[in-house]
Amino acid sequence: RKQWKIAVLPGDGIGPEVMAVTVRALRSLAEQGGPSMELTEFPWPSHQWHREHGSTMPADWKATLAQYDAILLGALGDPGPTSDPDRYLLPDAVSLGPLLDIRKGFDQWACERPAMLLEGAPQYLADERARDLDMMVIRENSEGEYVGQGGRLAPGTPREVATQMEVFTRAGAERIFRHAFERAVARAAEREAGTRRNREFPLADGGVARAQVCLITKRNALRYWGEMYTEVFEQVASDYPGIATHHELVDAACMKFVMSPWNFDVVVASNLQGDILTDLAAVLSGGMGVAPSCNLNPADRRQPPMFEPTHGSAPDIAGRNLAGPQAMLLTAAMMLAWMGEEDGRAARAAQRLRDAVEADLRVHGTIQRETTAIGDAVLAALS
Ligand code: IPM
Ligand code: MN
Repeated sequence: RKQWKIAVLPGDGIGPEVMAVTVRALRSLAEQGGPSMELTEFPWPSHQWHREHGSTMPADWKATLAQYDAILLGALGDPGPTSDPDRYLLPDAVSLGPLLDIRKGFDQWACERPAMLLEGAPQYLADERARDLDMMVIRENSEGEYVGQGGRLAPGTPREVATQMEVFTRAGAERIFRHAFERAVARAAEREAGTRRNREFPLADGGVARAQVCLITKRNALRYWGEMYTEVFEQVASDYPGIATHHELVDAACMKFVMSPWNFDVVVASNLQGDILTDLAAVLSGGMGVAPSCNLNPADRRQPPMFEPTHGSAPDIAGRNLAGPQAMLLTAAMMLAWMGEEDGRAARAAQRLRDAVEADLRVHGTIQRETTAIGDAVLAALS
């Protein structure tokens, strides 16, 4: 019986509040025959830690986190209320830096952000068909626009030039596309088995597929990586004749996400384009309050993945017991589902937690209630 070691990083702002509710739910699941979990809380990364130690994480953060099977993170970045004279301001790049450091440190090259419209969650699109939304955006999480190379020449002068390099590798493209097709194969199997709503996508040979992968690029303007992505995508796709394929330019994809999101299934995009598309996809699924996300290394399960809601630290409502914990709870369910690939108890616990959050949403929607009251309701549904 595997004992899972989970590093719990509540972070800043509403992070600790939504995490407290989530930890209660995880402990309750564990007690009721769920997976055996050891949850260890860390006070970093956080503003507070920076205030006391001059950095958002201790120098040995990587060695510490490497001892865990998975990382569960709340939210980062909160200087406190504007009325606070003691407000401790940090630049975003510093307070949010640990997110990128952890992704890089554990080579979490795939970011998965599912989007489904849960009953009771706000529906921002008028078209009823938008209810059938069922997509998974897979964001390349290790390179591209986020390599952080470049600089400022003659800063502050009228001649200033800022450069920001984008780096794309064939190996990076190949592994993320292969992962996207593997996820599509799994979704097709779920649709075949009736555990996911059925969908049909046209295949080039006239047949129909139960899953599709859509490649996003801006190859009409960003030619070099666009060409390489297209080539590698077609090569990988040829190994998956049963999966439909599609391509959209990122600007057109934004338009189509809003006009006809039900036409998308698995979507694979570069780091920055995936970042932007996943905020849009989160809105389609009812907003940041219900959008989970994970960062993982699908090729190496010993690298701890990081599970984090897509939302931020919401300093405006922090400390007032007003934050909706649904996204954090659904993120924990994603973590349990990942554990469930090895541990049947975790797979069942993931389903129970999702069901409990969905049941609460069906009754109450996302109207503002106390964080702890939502936690109590979900806990009651679990026991
Ligand atoms: C996200 C966030 C981060 C990103 C920021 C906070 C660095 O927007 O997780 O989507 O751009 O990846
Ligand atoms: Mn983002």
